[in-house]
Amino acid sequence: MPHPYKLRLRAFLSGQGWSSAKMQAHCTQAALMTQDELKQAVAHAALDYVAAGEIIGVGTGSTANFFIDELGKIRDRIQGAVASSEATANRLRSHGITVFDLNDITHLSIYVDGADEINHRGQMIKGGGGALTREKIVASVADQFICIADESKLVEVMGKFPLPVEIIPMAEKAVDRQLRALGATPELRMKDGKPYVTDNGCWIIDARGLQIHDPLALEQKINAIAGVVSVGLFAQKAASVCLLGSGSGVKTLKF
Ligand code: 5RP
Repeated sequence: MPHPYKLRLRAFLSGQGWSSAKMQAHCTQAALMTQDELKQAVAHAALDYVAAGEIIGVGTGSTANFFIDELGKIRDRIQGAVASSEATANRLRSHGITVFDLNDITHLSIYVDGADEINHRGQMIKGGGGALTREKIVASVADQFICIADESKLVEVMGKFPLPVEIIPMAEKAVDRQLRALGATPELRMKDGKPYVTDNGCWIIDARGLQIHDPLALEQKINAIAGVVSVGLFAQKAASVCLLGSGSGVKTLKF
């Protein structure tokens, strides 16, 4: 039975119009690395962007976790980090890395995080892990957004991954109607039979069925809906660099 990552990669490459021979060669090579190994490779590569003595902005999710583990190995070379979630703050502390409050920081050189989808302009969908608002806030004070991802995250048109929208709970139905008017099929994110609650005490609606041809315009439209805290489209603050893990190594995409 092929590894689930290999199956996803095949589906992705086939959608990109790859021939079956080219796909076969690529998948054979990629299969030598699991998705976790690809994440580990990009997390390690991101250390090249970490300057000595700096405070690093750190994202949330499984790829960001690999990066935190890498940062832990060089913790004496950095001043500390600003976390984009409680989970990230806890993991950073578990490595002995000092976690700074964003209010005590005026500027970060880099913010390192994963993505659920990234396009060829560095625009991203984020928030699969529920931390989109804090991720956007921390990223906003960084000069460079370093996206770390495996190659299955690179897409032509974003929207296959449901777009997360963090909302004030009382606005759920109102936001739902507005998202439907934009062509989405909204679904309230649930956990253990109850609405999923973010670190900010808010809820998340996942907007399915969108084909996002103008990410910047959609980000502005959804952000303008009353009751929306933030949308997981990172177009205004897109990635500066994407370190993309593939079977043939880590590729660096600059935007
Ligand atoms: C969390 C995020 C993550 O960066 C995104 O979901 C990617 O996660 P992973 O690295 O686990 O694939 O936006 O809110």
